[in-house]
Amino acid sequence: MTALEGKVDLSVRRADFPILATEANGHPLAYLDNAATSQKPQYVLDVLDKYWTGENANVHRGVHYLSQRATRHFDDSREKVRVLLNAASTKEVILTKGCTEGINLVATCLTGPSPYRLREGDEILVSTMEHHSNIVPWQLAAERVGASVNPIPITDAGEIDLDAYAHMLASGRVKVVGVVHISNSLGTINPVKEIARMAHEAGALVLVDGAQAGPHSLIDVLDLDADFYTLSCHKIYAPTGVGVLYGKQHLMEALPPYHGGGDMIRTVAFEGTTYADLPAKYEAGTPNVAGVIGLGAAIDYIASVGREAQGAEGGLRSNLAAAFGAIHEQEIGLARYATERLLEIPGLRITGTATEKAGIVSFVLARAHPHDIGTILDQEGIAIRAGHHCCMPLMKRLGVPATARASFAFYNTYEEADRLVEAVGKVHAMFE
Ligand SMILES: Cc1ncc(COP(=O)(O)O)c(C=O)c1O
Repeated sequence: MTALEGKVDLSVRRADFPILATEANGHPLAYLDNAATSQKPQYVLDVLDKYWTGENANVHRGVHYLSQRATRHFDDSREKVRVLLNAASTKEVILTKGCTEGINLVATCLTGPSPYRLREGDEILVSTMEHHSNIVPWQLAAERVGASVNPIPITDAGEIDLDAYAHMLASGRVKVVGVVHISNSLGTINPVKEIARMAHEAGALVLVDGAQAGPHSLIDVLDLDADFYTLSCHKIYAPTGVGVLYGKQHLMEALPPYHGGGDMIRTVAFEGTTYADLPAKYEAGTPNVAGVIGLGAAIDYIASVGREAQGAEGGLRSNLAAAFGAIHEQEIGLARYATERLLEIPGLRITGTATEKAGIVSFVLARAHPHDIGTILDQEGIAIRAGHHCCMPLMKRLGVPATARASFAFYNTYEEADRLVEAVGKVHAMFE
């Protein structure tokens, strides 16, 4: 199972990530908390350093050399994101400070004046496995207008119950469906294309939370037909403080602005203000210029992994396709191997046994609290996450207060998976 014969072993690329050479508590660091945030390759760090030491300027406002240079790189990044998502136009690529902000933007703007305005009695559906960031913004919006937020049930395996979903859509009052593409807690890969098709048939808009899908799979918003799709870029080897909101052009044109301020206007007068075209309409104030340029570098880095995986130079989209194919294979290989070995530990239960899963392994032990597992593993230099993973309603559904979660990136190794299993075995022995 550990053999990677005939395949590209992407863990050789771990040398690109300087932080992975860290010693933690006297052991080599095994970083298995990639669903929280990914590590950054030297390439991205170098681009950031170059920006801060040789290019720093505000964008879109200056006529001078530095500003023009920064603006060009900033705009280049937006185009790279467009290719990453297969969006039709850069007008549909709104740069935010994170996935959370993107969802808040959509939920808030849907309560403002537009043909899509949420009203009293409307229903918003979100799945039971959502991250709080795809629940709370909808609750805030619903409170504002008198709508309700209703949870779509999930099965014991951690899959969305599509029959129950179809039944809920039949109420005729559903206006929005919010669903996570890949669950950060369970690893489930949801059938978002089918979920979007069903929502559209019922006349509802669909927002897909792609925070965990962005780092691990090739997204195609045109194929998914999602109305809105959000990314969390610090999970895609880019700096913190950057996110992406994809929104269909006709929707983003119809919705009101989110934040007011500089850059998002065409003209300002006390008699009335007019707004800029997309995407500027939703990007008030100075953006995270360095972060966005870092995001462009991260996309280039992923493309370089793809070039290596396919052994040939392709266009950006084809390099990204090759990269994500290899990344997914490596990560699910690691997760399946770890799962099989973890299941040999008596009293260990995997939470999330969906047929379609990404490289996330959540588990509980019969006698040890997840926080104890996390703390003891840390002493062995192994970084995992323990807690509710910002999914309290999901924990309630699973009947546990928390889980321990190991989440793999392509730079992880089978040796690290072995260390995880051995350390969890030790925890089991201690609490027996
Ligand atoms: C599924 C999911 N949605 C949303 C978020 C929030 O993303 P951000 O940190 O970019 O706001 C996360 C972060 O862990 C996540 O896992």
